[in-house]
Amino acid sequence: MHPTLETIIQLTKELNYLNYQYYKKDIKEISDQAFDFKLKTLEQLERDHPSFVQPDSPTLRVGGFVSKKFETVVHQFPMLSLSNTYSKQDLIDFDERVKKILDSSEFEYICELKFDGLAISITYEEGKLLRAVTRGDGIKGDNITANVKTIKSMPLALFGENWPNKIEVRGEIFLPLPSFEAINKKRLENNEPLLANPRNAASGTMKMQDSAIVAQRNMDCYIYGLLSDSNISNSHYESLKLMENWGFNISNTYSKCTNIDEVMMYIEEWSKKRSHLPLETDGVVIKVNDLRSQDELGFTSKFPRWAISFKFKSESVQTRLKGVTYQVGRTGAITPVANLEPISLAGTIVKRASLHNANEIVRLNLHENDLLALEKGGEIIPKVTHVNIEARRFNALPIKYIHECPECKTALIRIDGEANHYCPNERECPPQILGRIGHFISRNALNIESLGIKTVQGLIQKKLVEDISDLYHLTFSQLNGLMFETTEENKTRSLQKKSAENIIAAIKQSKKVNFELVLFGLGIRHVGKTVAEKLAQYFHTLDKIKEASFEQIISVDEIGETIAKSVKDFFSRESNLEMIARLKVSGVKLALDQPSNENYGNKLSGLTLVVSGVFLKYDRASIKEMIKQHKGKITSSISSKTDYLIAGDNMGPAKKEKALNLGVSILTETEFLHLIEE
Ligand code: IVH
Repeated sequence: MHPTLETIIQLTKELNYLNYQYYKKDIKEISDQAFDFKLKTLEQLERDHPSFVQPDSPTLRVGGFVSKKFETVVHQFPMLSLSNTYSKQDLIDFDERVKKILDSSEFEYICELKFDGLAISITYEEGKLLRAVTRGDGIKGDNITANVKTIKSMPLALFGENWPNKIEVRGEIFLPLPSFEAINKKRLENNEPLLANPRNAASGTMKMQDSAIVAQRNMDCYIYGLLSDSNISNSHYESLKLMENWGFNISNTYSKCTNIDEVMMYIEEWSKKRSHLPLETDGVVIKVNDLRSQDELGFTSKFPRWAISFKFKSESVQTRLKGVTYQVGRTGAITPVANLEPISLAGTIVKRASLHNANEIVRLNLHENDLLALEKGGEIIPKVTHVNIEARRFNALPIKYIHECPECKTALIRIDGEANHYCPNERECPPQILGRIGHFISRNALNIESLGIKTVQGLIQKKLVEDISDLYHLTFSQLNGLMFETTEENKTRSLQKKSAENIIAAIKQSKKVNFELVLFGLGIRHVGKTVAEKLAQYFHTLDKIKEASFEQIISVDEIGETIAKSVKDFFSRESNLEMIARLKVSGVKLALDQPSNENYGNKLSGLTLVVSGVFLKYDRASIKEMIKQHKGKITSSISSKTDYLIAGDNMGPAKKEKALNLGVSILTETEFLHLIEE
């Protein structure tokens, strides 16, 4: 069998399995990034070898999958896709077909940008936002109304007048580029995996269960389509104008064109100007303007015949591979990096590009000195898309993945189901020790800033620290005047009295840092800041997390098997247990602060409450915590004993009806907050 066919079959199987696990069983076996990477790899291979595409390829689905956490809604009008082309000749052919069917050349096109985000359909009844549904598989999607309502530019009620009783608008939700960059900057500081690109970030965000987090991300949406049973407009242009008047956010980049030459000019203009927009655009959508003509043209089984999209080619450059080096992360994960002849790409000089893992080197069939094609994925991170095989030097040898850690020479291991190799020598491998301590002292964890990373290197060199707990046993006299070599600068440094004092003071101060941050600072693989907060809120103490069973850990909201496995693994290691014991003695906070009772009243004492739905300001777990703090009792189902139902969005109608029938008072989130604040 052709080796690429074999890879395609294998990736198809694997992705379908991972999807099934995720959407049907709620099990996330690999990170979103790793998943996207596999999907992208498959897409690329399929693009290069269209005849190998498998009938059940996950790339053939219309736009995603229907997840089970949200209510599924069948679209009144299916959400179709557009036929795509990269060729201007195809546009000329499209124009010819349209002319032929309409039997005229006197018609207009509306050109719009093709926004790269998450397609959404929003229904308004009597001028009020009723429901927002994702595209899903095109026939049915997820009801994500609560999340869509957090988008500030989305009218909850229509302005003006003349709107029909029921309308459906279609648009594209996106994460504005400045927000995307800000989120990734924060994630980098928190040692959390970066969001791969704004589009994935947009769809990931809109599928979150907690709309409060969605609200923080400042999502935005451009509307580009209007559907209604009543004949309210004669052209797409008129529809856009109507929607503008009703308060929808319509990008002002659309333009009326009277022939295909004007369409070409629009494409030329926007292929340059698009880089100044707050979102990514991957092409231009060309739509026949007149709605009756659209009807006449109709649809094929998949696409409208009245529209086509022209895709921009992303900027691509080629450069030579100088060599592959391997980085060891603080968790021991090995990342191969391509070192390149420097080259300018989309405004920056690129010298290195991540090769992610061994599979990627196999996918590229990478050889020494290869000429590599680079693109900027998400316009930010350079990505090696393929190798220019024709330019390969005749005697070039394939790149062989390393078997030993480049730093400590320990044999590498590969965990089943994970793409990365790991160095298992976590106790002694210098970059791992340094990485762990560096993470612990970073501003986002214990914030022991006066202790710089170079000093930590010196402390490791002088065998004064081996793990984070050793920091708390350092003394002023050990630090004062300490001499050490810096590896990069090859210079000897010595610690001055003032620095030594500052370091000791900062370490002491760090004992006041909250447990959540200490837990994050431990650097457990897959436990980022948010996960640490969730675990801390649920278990309250490190000892309870240590003792928790796998099942108990996965029962925490949004904690999956990968995290649970990693937590269990962390606490199964003797060296970690010893380190924690030493941390405990030193007085670092390994439990949540006890809430002092005087802070909370007895407002809910003797009352029974039910919490249901999705809330805007707090997540459900926090609301329940507040009830407990105010001495209220929480039950899961409504009965005659229930005093209050705290109702969020997306609450089942049956629950509400039962509450009404039993005369239970229903509170909104704000009313509840008032109740306990009073
Ligand atoms: S019109 C019948 N206009 O592109 C389809 N779609 O392949 C009508 N998209 O996921 C779609 N910008 O969400 C249309 N200005 C635009 C668009 C646009 C982005 C997306 C759309 C869908 C995909 C269609």
